Amino acid sequence: MAERSLVLIKPDAVRRGLVGEIIARFERKGLAVDALVLRTMDADLADAHYAEHVEKAFYPPLKAFMTSGPLVAAIIAGDEAIAVIRLLVGATDGRAAAAGTIRGDLSLSNRENLVHASDSAESAEREIKLWFPELS
Ligand code: TYD
Ligand code: MG
Repeated sequence: MAERSLVLIKPDAVRRGLVGEIIARFERKGLAVDALVLRTMDADLADAHYAEHVEKAFYPPLKAFMTSGPLVAAIIAGDEAIAVIRLLVGATDGRAAAAGTIRGDLSLSNRENLVHASDSAESAEREIKLWFPELS
């Protein structure tokens, strides 16, 4: 089934010059870039985007990282896009993520792990509304 996912190419990826590499992986898989913008997350958007995590101990440093510089926000679309993108991105901790995944190949961190991707249809709808209200 055709789906849309909200993807963030995080500030570490922008700083490291990996934006093209990461987008290329989605495109080579056969997914389509439906929307793309360079943007810096502010505190309010961070709290809204990570609503499920705001009370957790790891949230303050995560928020500092996510608001530390520009990121690329995108809507990536295709058949089963939500699950397919999570597979391409890999496990949260780059040290444990499987080789061949974006995090497994390119990240050595549990926080600076390059990519956010919606984890369900409900999350995708909520996150697209936050980042691209005009396209939701
Ligand atoms: P989570 O939603 O669990 O991971 P994912 O991005 O794979 O869906 O966590 C959101 C982000 O929070 C994660 O990408 C990196 C950060 N994070 C930490 O900094 N420390 C942690 O212990 C965890 C679990 C996540
Ligand atoms: Mg998550």
